[in-house]
Amino acid sequence: MCGIVGYCGDKLASEVLLSGLKRLEYRGYDSSGISVNSGNKLSIIKKTGKIKNLRDAVPENLPGHFGIGHTRWATHGGVTDINAHPHSDSSEKIAVVHNGIIENYTGLKEKLLREGYVFKSETDSEVLAHLISKFYEGDLESAVKSALSLVKGTYGIIVMHADKDNELIGARNGSPLVLGIGDDEMFLASDVSAILAYTKQVVYFEDGEVVKVTSKGFTTSDLKNNRVSKDMENISWELEEMEKGKFSTYMEKEIHEQVESIPRAMKGRINEDLATAVLGGLNMTGRELLDVERVKIIAAGTSYYAGQVASYIIESLARIPSSAELASEFRYRNPVVEKNTLYFAISQSGETIDTLFALREIKRKGGRVLGICNVVGSTIPRESDGGVYIHSGPEISVASTKAFTSQITALYLFAIHMARMRDMSQSSGAAFLKDLNIIPEAITDILNRKAELQKIAEKYAHYPNFLFLGRGINCPVAMEGALKLKEVSYIHAEGYSAAEIKHGPIALINEKTPSMFLVPDDHMREKIVSNMKEVKARNGKVLAIAVKGDKEVEDIADEVFYVSKTHENLYPYLMVVPLQLFSYFCAMELHRDVDQPRNLAKSVTVE
Ligand code: AGP
Ligand code: GLU
Repeated sequence: MCGIVGYCGDKLASEVLLSGLKRLEYRGYDSSGISVNSGNKLSIIKKTGKIKNLRDAVPENLPGHFGIGHTRWATHGGVTDINAHPHSDSSEKIAVVHNGIIENYTGLKEKLLREGYVFKSETDSEVLAHLISKFYEGDLESAVKSALSLVKGTYGIIVMHADKDNELIGARNGSPLVLGIGDDEMFLASDVSAILAYTKQVVYFEDGEVVKVTSKGFTTSDLKNNRVSKDMENISWELEEMEKGKFSTYMEKEIHEQVESIPRAMKGRINEDLATAVLGGLNMTGRELLDVERVKIIAAGTSYYAGQVASYIIESLARIPSSAELASEFRYRNPVVEKNTLYFAISQSGETIDTLFALREIKRKGGRVLGICNVVGSTIPRESDGGVYIHSGPEISVASTKAFTSQITALYLFAIHMARMRDMSQSSGAAFLKDLNIIPEAITDILNRKAELQKIAEKYAHYPNFLFLGRGINCPVAMEGALKLKEVSYIHAEGYSAAEIKHGPIALINEKTPSMFLVPDDHMREKIVSNMKEVKARNGKVLAIAVKGDKEVEDIADEVFYVSKTHENLYPYLMVVPLQLFSYFCAMELHRDVDQPRNLAKSVTVE
């Protein structure tokens, strides 16, 4: 589920593939490999670990002008050189790279074994190589189609044959695939970042499509051999946006970028005269929006917490019942899709399979789904009925930071739009937008004082467990803080409603389990302060993010980081940034691989 890349052209394929894989490295992986044609035979090289290990193993100037590459996030079979992709058939003429899971591989493998095929790896993917070989009679594309017609599951694949000089076959079902068009050269990849250095002209494929690529052109068809015509699109990202610049990690860079990415999510979307937001991408008339009786947000991980924050906002500002739900749970419980409910699918990558499949389930049942996504051209926005791109620029660090604040920005705009259509007055709308506009300034102030958070992190990074506690709209922010700490530092952390700890988690409190409290100066403040005292009374260390001037918190807490005062609905911004920095500094203190934490992948295209 990490990445695939393919090349056909005049350049040395190994160089293009290695550079593409390097660009895909951020997605998280455990091993990688390439296959290039060297005459009428394939050179297949595979290595566990970082791309550097693969690069060291690939001979310099390895001949070959077409080839395929893969970064693996193991689902079936351990992390070994043999299980790494590409996988080949017994003749070693056919090579396949695969993202996804072949769900019926056990049955297919048993049948192939009975027929005498010999397997080398423990992966599900290897069945593809043998099936294609079984059907191959000189036409690679039709062999791939015959093989895929037997397969159940998800895949983004690229296939090559040693005898088919200058030809690649790509196909997708559930996992992304994009074609990059160059001058007499073509690229295939799971993600535009792999090919951005070479071309900005791309073609995105849909599930069920198969593409035959040569250096000079391509043809697309479906599994039943119907030709499909495709449109070319331009990628708006710049290569420089994918570099670390002056920062040592992408996570640090992306935390800092929030000062620009939040305004970018708002750009051109505010009507100051009417004190409202304008979101053309929703593709809904005012009348249709007025009919909305409920909002349901579907997402995973950090995007889910952004959805939870948004549900508070939409309910509070627009007075529309709203809730967020984990996409992975939603899709499997035969959800009731209501006529006047508006569904949102939030996803930074636009490729998360749990979210994508939930979206499809809603649409299948006739519901309307809007996407809140970052990656332009990714599958979720393409399959949504409309939506809002957050325009955060590439988010490379596995741990999501700037996408979170931009996702909530997009939904704040939606909330204000809906609120102003209902009972929010022009002056309240204007006051809210004014406060929203100065959030980047308040974040700059936090960033300028990040050394304070570094000091706290260095002191606490060696504690084994943490609680993150908040109330109301900041409760999901506490959960996001805990997720961030777990992801990048591997410290065990639980995010909870501060009110809920007395129902159980308070049993964990002792001098070795610090609690991070989020203390905005809203209507929940007094309650949170009482919760802090309860923890102190049980010898728990208390860390707090509080509002400048709140001296009482300083008297109770062991450590406090202060943020500026803002509108009570806007505190999630000012609470989450210190938590991102705290996790970052804890991870640095513990010498973790911040941008590529163990076991994680940036884009989760398996269930
Ligand atoms: C965030 O830090 C995580 N790596 C992860 O929870 C992520 O938010 C989740 O996988 C959803 O991704 P998406 O936004 O691309 O759909
Ligand atoms: N299921 C395949 C494997 O475990 C592919 C995983 C991936 O998408 O990287 O090898």
